[in-house]
Amino acid sequence: MSRLRNTPETLTRLTEAIDVTGAVVDEGTRERSTMRARTLRSATGTQHDLAPVGDPPEDMRAVLLDATGGPEALRLGTVPVPTPVISELLVRVHAAGVNPIDAKTRAGAGVSGAIADFPSTLGFDFSGTVVKAPYEAHPFPPGTPVFGMVPFPRSGGSYAEYAVVPTMSVARKPQTLSHVEAAGVPLAALTAWGLVVETAHAHEGQRILIHAGSGGVGHFAVQFAAYFGAHVTVTGSGRNAAWLRELGASVVIDYTTTRFEEVVSDVDVVIDLVGNVQDRTGSRSLGVVRPGGLYVLVPTGSWPEYAQEADAAGVRSTSFKVTPDGGALATIARLLDSGAVQVYVDRVFDLGEAADAHRAIEEGHTRGKIVLRVSEG
Ligand SMILES: NC(=O)c1ccc[n+]([C@@H]2O[C@H](COP(=O)([O-])OP(=O)(O)OC[C@H]3O[C@@H](n4cnc5c(N)ncnc54)[C@H](OP(=O)(O)O)[C@@H]3O)[C@@H](O)[C@H]2O)c1
Repeated sequence: MSRLRNTPETLTRLTEAIDVTGAVVDEGTRERSTMRARTLRSATGTQHDLAPVGDPPEDMRAVLLDATGGPEALRLGTVPVPTPVISELLVRVHAAGVNPIDAKTRAGAGVSGAIADFPSTLGFDFSGTVVKAPYEAHPFPPGTPVFGMVPFPRSGGSYAEYAVVPTMSVARKPQTLSHVEAAGVPLAALTAWGLVVETAHAHEGQRILIHAGSGGVGHFAVQFAAYFGAHVTVTGSGRNAAWLRELGASVVIDYTTTRFEEVVSDVDVVIDLVGNVQDRTGSRSLGVVRPGGLYVLVPTGSWPEYAQEADAAGVRSTSFKVTPDGGALATIARLLDSGAVQVYVDRVFDLGEAADAHRAIEEGHTRGKIVLRVSEG
């Protein structure tokens, strides 16, 4: 795995090396390729590597939630295809990622308080094909394979054949990934990027402890932290130890047999994907951070007193909330296409099996991601 120093200059270079369509360009070819793209678009009104798309139908299949409840509250139904407005894209969804927040929301927690109307369609993550763009020369014209985050619950979610999504929340799908693989990326990888790169500023020599490194967010966090040269210690069960080392972890602590505070100390940063929901993982973590180090709580709301406890322990602390970000997603797509970072899809369910997918994610032992297959793509 090649490594980079995480400096502002590196990040600027990584980001600037990617144009809005996700193509990687160097300084010398940027101007020529921009001119070529302009010429192509003005001549044809579109790019030439696009899949043909027809007009969307009036109705679509979607997973519907009539009221919050158990997994059985999810049913397959038919609803109108949503209408995009202003800068939104209409996307044909080929696959939808399943995240713990989906199950929490279905159960009446998570972001359920913001659901305006029932029946509601859950789901943030998607990979699909653009069907309608806001204007002819848009960077993501119809036929473009894209992936990203739907602004659920403000609009309908991604557990459906079509979704509307703001342009700024999407990027070109990584070319080397299937739609099923790509749908496992956005929310988890953007969370990991926000935690490891933007909050922890991962760099060579830094010591990071990541709890739940084998889950959706964790497996990206381990890879990003190792990519930027940090020394990564991770908690996970023994069955995932060899895989976590392959992803870049230097030390794997089996939380089912070992108290992590007995074998690790003086870390610069703890990225806590468990919190005090299990075995007081958050409170116990404060004792392994060096004085002045940083503790980051990810399952927000699970431990309201974390900041006071961290202050008392002499540790800086913050919570974190993921933001849809097409620019960061384009950078992540480049890392995926280069092979420096991988997405691991644990289980795939059909759209009509959303309830089973929720039962699986609620078990809390997913390796990597769970994905719903929605339509051919
Ligand atoms: N604030 C935000 O913006 C944000 C964004 C994304 C996620 N989140 C939250 O962050 C948490 C993690 O999300 P996720 O998508 O990564 O979840 P996930 O994929 O469901 O995580 C499952 C993983 O957790 C591991 N695990 C379970 N208990 C553990 C423990 N006590 N110690 C160490 N590892 C343990 C399991 O490993 P084993 O199978 O080996 O036990 C499994 O691989 C969730 O609460 C989610 O809601 C918050």
